[in-house]
Amino acid sequence: MKFSKNILCIGAGYVGGPTMAMIALKCPEYKVTVVDVNEERIGRWNSDDLPIYEPGLLEAVRAARGKNLFFSTAIPEGIRAADIIFVSVNTPTKTFGLGAGMASDLQYWEKTAHQIVSHSDRPKIIVEKSTLPVRTAEAMERILKENKKNIRFDVVSNPEFLAEGSAVNDLLSPDRVLIGSQQTESGAQAAQVIADIYAHWVPADKIITTNLWSAELSKLVANAFLAQRISSINAISALCEKTDADVSEISFAVGSDTRIGSRFISASIGFGGSCFKKDILNLVYICRSYGLNEVADYWEKVVQMNEYQQERFVKKIIKEMFNTIVAKKIVLLGFAFKANTGDTRESPGIPVAKKLLAERASLVICDPQALENARRELAGLDGDVRYEADPYRAVIDAHAIAVITEWDVFKELDFEKVFSVMQKPAFVFDGRNILDHQRLFQIGFNVFPLGKPSLTHF
Ligand code: NAD
Ligand code: UGA
Repeated sequence: MKFSKNILCIGAGYVGGPTMAMIALKCPEYKVTVVDVNEERIGRWNSDDLPIYEPGLLEAVRAARGKNLFFSTAIPEGIRAADIIFVSVNTPTKTFGLGAGMASDLQYWEKTAHQIVSHSDRPKIIVEKSTLPVRTAEAMERILKENKKNIRFDVVSNPEFLAEGSAVNDLLSPDRVLIGSQQTESGAQAAQVIADIYAHWVPADKIITTNLWSAELSKLVANAFLAQRISSINAISALCEKTDADVSEISFAVGSDTRIGSRFISASIGFGGSCFKKDILNLVYICRSYGLNEVADYWEKVVQMNEYQQERFVKKIIKEMFNTIVAKKIVLLGFAFKANTGDTRESPGIPVAKKLLAERASLVICDPQALENARRELAGLDGDVRYEADPYRAVIDAHAIAVITEWDVFKELDFEKVFSVMQKPAFVFDGRNILDHQRLFQIGFNVFPLGKPSLTHF
């Protein structure tokens, strides 16, 4: 079959894989190839054991794979054949040198820019899909323009807003698609080519075009605003615990104001995931680099409040369990950073597990999708940790349960059965407020929700 366009995506991760699967599904006349340096990852994309868990993703991949969707490690060939190249490589927080712990590590991104230059022999549109510091496109353009072959490259910013666990739905019906380009004729043409891809299934009024810098910065700001809402309600959850107010009632009352809205104000043990912390720290770093220290301090507080919330959760467990948890068996229900994903990057489960182990508790980690990643996150730590997929086996002889992830399976557990096999007094620390606290109390548990009065039999 002759395809009308060749699209390449460099980076077959949480963003590259699902995004390209959706484009391939909705645009059968385009050939979509996803390449990665990681052979194992590509092998799994070519199997039914996909490298990431995402509801509906396997069906979408199966529908397009082998027809107009291809996964490969042949990067130079892919670049040569492409008309449009999406760059969706990882941009983690730098761990070394200048800006360590704050700035984005752009080494993977820069490498792709050089690869594109060396393997191209005709004009191409380069799309920044990765989340990048504002004005990165300028550096991308400089690298691309240094080519001796006189090839024209247009750089477009098209940040991704999908959330893990709902990636397929988010891609199917996005709130918006953002496309930033240079305000020149060729920049506008390039933006139009990218808009035409999404126009196959996204209504025109949801496709927003801006200048390059606004698109890059909007992505960081969107994540910062979302995370800020979570830190705001988490700060209030601490006050609720001192005053017997109920944080869920507050979320509902406050969120009923349509100017505020009800989403992203559920109290939790803190936000996790690969992006919120990294993107805010990047924003903070950028602000400081422009001398905007007050602005930087303001946003940095969002991350500090998140750490405070995780620490508070652990302190509460220790205090309520009579100030010692040495050799006590504590079951972490969930380890993924949120439900419906196996991803554990920056999961609040990690600091919670580390702090509990430092107190010499005996841990059992239970998660329907994230045990493989949990093992990797906690590898090499001193202490007693077991991994158990079956919650009923996990809780045998446990002193306490701590809810880390809001999986539906945990809400549906038979807690009479759970209580019957636990040590007494039995404790529940609900870091997500997903359980029926009154019912647990009636069964005999001592219940410690977040931001609500405790229910104890003492
Ligand atoms: P990821 O780590 O899952 O995937 C990145 C992939 O890029 C890896 O498989 C890696 O092997 C590959 N890669 C790195 N350098 C390469 C190179 N030179 N050539 C070929 N492949 C290379 O990362 P991700 O979660 O998909 O995130 C990618 C970007 O998208 C980040 O900037 C992130 O901030 C952003 N983002 C992520 C999400 C999310 O939900 N995870 C959502 C929106 C935006
Ligand atoms: C987030 C954004 O929602 C996406 O728009 C963005 O594209 C993505 O980051 C990214 O740039 O990577 P994601 O991290 O996958 O998506 O998941 P979210 O649903 O945003 O949840 C993030 C964290 O906040 C989770 O730990 C979740 O449990 C927590 N959260 C969320 C709360 O604690 N309370 C809430 O009310 C909502």
